[in-house]
Amino acid sequence: MRALAGRVDVDTNNLGVSGIVTSDHTYVHVGVVGDGGPQPYGGLLSATEADTSKTLPATYDRMLFGKALLLGQSRRVSKDESSDESDSGRLEPASRIRAVRFGGVEMATWYTAPYPEEYSRQRVLHICEFCLKFMNSAFVAWRHQLKCPYRHPPGDEIYRKGALSVFEVDGRKNPMYCQNLCLLAKLFLGSKTLHYDVEPFLFYILTEVDAAGCHFVGYFSKEKRNASRYNVSCILTLPVHQRKGYGHFLIDFSYLLTRAENKTGTPEKPLSDLGLLSYRNYWKLVLCAQLQDPPSNPLTIDALSAATGLTSDDVVYGLEAMDALVRDQRTRRYAIKVDRAAIAAELDRWDRRGYVRLDPSCLVWTPLVLGRSGGINSLSA
Ligand code: ACO
Ligand code: ZN
Repeated sequence: MRALAGRVDVDTNNLGVSGIVTSDHTYVHVGVVGDGGPQPYGGLLSATEADTSKTLPATYDRMLFGKALLLGQSRRVSKDESSDESDSGRLEPASRIRAVRFGGVEMATWYTAPYPEEYSRQRVLHICEFCLKFMNSAFVAWRHQLKCPYRHPPGDEIYRKGALSVFEVDGRKNPMYCQNLCLLAKLFLGSKTLHYDVEPFLFYILTEVDAAGCHFVGYFSKEKRNASRYNVSCILTLPVHQRKGYGHFLIDFSYLLTRAENKTGTPEKPLSDLGLLSYRNYWKLVLCAQLQDPPSNPLTIDALSAATGLTSDDVVYGLEAMDALVRDQRTRRYAIKVDRAAIAAELDRWDRRGYVRLDPSCLVWTPLVLGRSGGINSLSA
């Protein structure tokens, strides 16, 4: 006999229905009050139909549930362990790409990039150095090389001097090339994640030119939006070409474009460690060159900013890094200190590197001016 936990009288819709709550919290409906005898649901249901005593799981039910739970958990663990072979499509398989074969050299990759699954299964990914198409075998890459029609990036050549050329590629006109470029860059970039939405960007590709074509060396991307204060979104020199001054050349080029637009600009943050090292070095050198031959008298931060294309913040940052910003304790005003010997030593150190220099007179370029739609309607595809 079940012990009663309490009695409730519920009068739903004035039916005079009442029930009891048992110690195991099931509600047992007992009938209509005052009808001469307890009948479940006023006789609408039989006693068996109205019995709710089975709504809580019995010990046997709990045992079955426990077994099913354990089985499910063990299946999930073994699926996670073999996620590379997973064919469900729900779990992202880990990329196995550890190197790229590009322009006849193999480069170890630094990070993963979201290449389609079928291209992420091999250790080495093959990439055409001209059209940036990616392939998953040396044989396919060799076949592609025989028929690839490209010998330079698919855009306008806007700079050429000696063996260096820079091409401007529009993300809207050449989305495939630019997407492939972003995927390639992601292999060497930790944080930036621009992959498929390339339309709002222009890409500036630095190439080394020889009889075989224009070989990709590095690039930077830049937002088309006029109002953007960023003059570089992502910048990359391929690892095989790093520490040859190409990063410095690309940064210099980005500021050359900014000055041609009569603007000042700054790279998009956050900067990677290597990005920060390169920018710090650039800002220091460009300010040394200005302080050696000052653009105005008296020398001001605004004048330095206008002459270099650096934002005032970056000018201040660069001057501080050179210990060239001093504060008069009495007047509490700042002044720019010009240490000619230190400046000459810094410029001399850079000269001795023998890195290639940008020649502003070789730029053939007019800035893109977008309409109100921000370029969405104004460019032909
Ligand atoms: N270690 C120390 N200093 C360095 C390094 C380094 N690895 N790389 C560059 N520098 C500094 C040095 O001062 C160097 O001058 P030095 O050679 O006289 O010592 C100076 O920068 C110029 O170096 P470059 O040869 O011109 O630079 P590089 O061609 O190697 O390119 C870059 C630099 C683009 C940052 C390259 O390292 C790269 O592609 N890294 C991976 C991608 C990346 O991190 N990009 C920047 C992300 S931030 C952004 O996109 C806005
Ligand atoms: Zn190709």
